[in-house]
Amino acid sequence: MSAQDSQEVIAMLSDDIKGEHAAIVQYLRHAYAMGEGEMACEIEAIARDEMRHLDWLAETVVELGGDPTLDRGEMTVGGATIAEWMQRDVGLEQDAIGLYEEHIKAIEDPKIKRLLRRIVSDELAHRHDFQHFVEKSKKEAMEPIAPLQAPGGKPPELSDMLNWGIRHEYTVILQYLYHSFLTPDEEVSEQLEDQAINEMQHLGWLAEELTDTGGVPVIEDTGIDRSTDTADMLRADIEVERMVTKEYTRQIEQVDDPDLKRLIARIRDNEIYHDEVFTDLLDEVSE
Ligand SMILES: [Fe+2]
Ligand SMILES: [Fe+2]
Ligand SMILES: [Fe+2]
Repeated sequence: MSAQDSQEVIAMLSDDIKGEHAAIVQYLRHAYAMGEGEMACEIEAIARDEMRHLDWLAETVVELGGDPTLDRGEMTVGGATIAEWMQRDVGLEQDAIGLYEEHIKAIEDPKIKRLLRRIVSDELAHRHDFQHFVEKSKKEAMEPIAPLQAPGGKPPELSDMLNWGIRHEYTVILQYLYHSFLTPDEEVSEQLEDQAINEMQHLGWLAEELTDTGGVPVIEDTGIDRSTDTADMLRADIEVERMVTKEYTRQIEQVDDPDLKRLIARIRDNEIYHDEVFTDLLDEVSE
């Protein structure tokens, strides 16, 4: 480790984490509003790359003795056409590359420099992909299936109901990732990360359901548990799983559409599984 003040490095990495977080949500919003198609899938894959970056950066912050930030940077969401959205994504990648390059110069630790260079190589590929998407969406005059910011096309109750789930899923993704970064227990950390990935699927399914009929997903958290003790984390995670299981069970009874019923039931059954996994882990760590 070099003589550089670790607080200084943590501050830079925190800015990088915020940028990755904003990119993930911006790209997901674009992908969901584009509907099912090759380009949307590729954008979701880019969002998953950004999640990996966030993961590596947060781990590095923990290694330096810091607390990984859950704040999200500025998104540049806007525009009426897919080409405009893709242009904004090019811009976001461009800004990220600029910031990483500054940080690579400023940071002395060779391991962290190497990690940031590794991330930049992905961002360069993403920038290239988004540039290609600008051209392609112009050439094919691609139209979004849903607006990015507009009143939902579904009946308001249904749109509210789906957005309740979307907010919940986004909240637990962040909460489980945060807990997985901070717990020293490797098994707990691995399980939390696995379940966070499953919650990302839930977020995607609900958002697709909503945007299919012109609704707009609201990807905002509802309050994240920041416990630092492993047993406390698991208790909070179990509590949120039980709360959401109850709510999804209520929603299943409330909706008429059989496909939507089946979708929410599938998610609800995953939540029951999460509760059981976390409960077993809590038993183990409490022994
Ligand atoms: Fe990234
Ligand atoms: Fe979920
Ligand atoms: Fe869950």
